[in-house]
Amino acid sequence: MSAVGVQCVSLTHQYPGTPVPALDDVDLQVEPGARLAVVGRSGSGKSTLITLLAGLHRPTRGQILLGEIELSATSEREMLRLRGGVFSLVVQNPGRNLLLYGTAEDNIRFAQRSAPRDERRSLPAPADLLGELGLGPLAGRSVSKLSGGEQQRLSIAVGLARRPALLLLDEPTSQLDTGSRDRVLDLLASVCASTGCTVVAVTHDPAVAEALGASRTLVDGRFVA
Ligand SMILES: Nc1ncnc2c1ncn2[C@@H]1O[C@H](COP(=O)(O)OP(=O)(O)OP(=O)(O)O)[C@@H](O)[C@H]1O
Ligand SMILES: [Mg+2]
Repeated sequence: MSAVGVQCVSLTHQYPGTPVPALDDVDLQVEPGARLAVVGRSGSGKSTLITLLAGLHRPTRGQILLGEIELSATSEREMLRLRGGVFSLVVQNPGRNLLLYGTAEDNIRFAQRSAPRDERRSLPAPADLLGELGLGPLAGRSVSKLSGGEQQRLSIAVGLARRPALLLLDEPTSQLDTGSRDRVLDLLASVCASTGCTVVAVTHDPAVAEALGASRTLVDGRFVA
């Protein structure tokens, strides 16, 4: 699928029962095919932003446009169609993206099963996708026996299983040692080079921002210069 851009206009989100918004009047523009890291300390609003972009909850105020699609005007049914197909979210804890009792290849296959039949025909074979991302050696291995870093890289591959137009990542390098982190960064670089999809990652890790080549900083729910 060709890349889509992301636009947020006056995006505000306040969780019920909290005194201040977690995201406060945020504007953001990411061009189709561009990469952006949103960096910030714990509690700055990163996960709030990425889950809003993934349509997991509705903003208190403001607009989110994924290409021509306005998320706030999207029904739950339409959101299901978009999720995985047009965009895909890799959440913070790799285990939560994966079926632990299957192999790496099973996980790609399972993600592709949610695609409509006509789309499925054009998707890469799981082994080919893993190979393309340098994860061929993991293909037949049980996910429960993979290391945290291997699970993280497989999570990204699963996020790409349906060739989304937009890949959203929450903390792709958290809880990893330096070697595993470097391998995730190499994988992100190859994703950018080979798929052309738009990538937005939220992270506390400056190395992710460096790997993606562009960043914005969130402080207390607002972008700062
Ligand atoms: N479900 C929720 N209900 C109430 N408040 C929440 C909820 N989720 C997050 N918050 C609050 O919103 C603010 C932003 O949280 P968020 O999880 O977006 O931060 P973050 O930058 O992702 O932090 P971290 O780096 O620790 O993951 C914090 O003050 C947090 O306590
Ligand atoms: Mg977070």
